[in-house]
Amino acid sequence: MVRIRAASASDVASLSAYFISLSPTSRNKRFMGARADFAVVAAECLPKTSHPDRFTLLAELRREGQGTIIGETRYAYDAAASQGEFAISVADAFQRQGVGFLMMTAMEMRAVNLGHDMIAGETARTNAEMRGLAKKAGFRDTGLGDWQSIHLAKRLSRRR
Ligand SMILES: CC(C)(COP(=O)(O)OP(=O)(O)OC[C@H]1O[C@@H](n2cnc3c(N)ncnc32)[C@H](O)[C@@H]1OP(=O)(O)O)[C@@H](O)C(=O)NCCC(=O)NCCS
Repeated sequence: MVRIRAASASDVASLSAYFISLSPTSRNKRFMGARADFAVVAAECLPKTSHPDRFTLLAELRREGQGTIIGETRYAYDAAASQGEFAISVADAFQRQGVGFLMMTAMEMRAVNLGHDMIAGETARTNAEMRGLAKKAGFRDTGLGDWQSIHLAKRLSRRR
């Protein structure tokens, strides 16, 4: 059973281990380049009272009372741009099983509850998985990308 929940301080070690467990290809796509400091990245994903408009959602597989992280999405509101920005990943063995879409839906609902109207993300033009997921979730190409990356955005609806 997969459940989507907000990350908390106690998740830092397992989130760091999750990032390390991603294949180099998935990790590279998630971070749009190489990163090695995953304990730092995981710590950055934790909720902070100084930034109530940022959150990380985890997809957790529950088996025999144990939880394993199989996906994450990080959301942060950019007040200057009046939009939330996100990044997402799903563990390689669980990709293409609906987990990414489940997390996107939960993230959008949470952003709506925070009063946000727009959500946006950036991905490599070659990232067919992310482009497909964004399209399915109703995102459009804003045309603000460059030759390497594509910028995708969606207006959030309060009626759900
Ligand atoms: C992008 C990613 C998060 C998608 O997660 P996922 O759980 O595999 O996606 P889902 O199973 O929910 O798929 C939803 C839709 O996305 C599209 N999609 C997913 N994988 C795809 C693929 N390999 N090729 C084309 N479209 C794909 C499809 O439209 C799919 O809907 P469908 O299954 O009804 O056809 C996952 O592939 C991943 O973690 N990639 C590595 C990290 C990354 O690229 N992050 C994005 C940059 S921030």
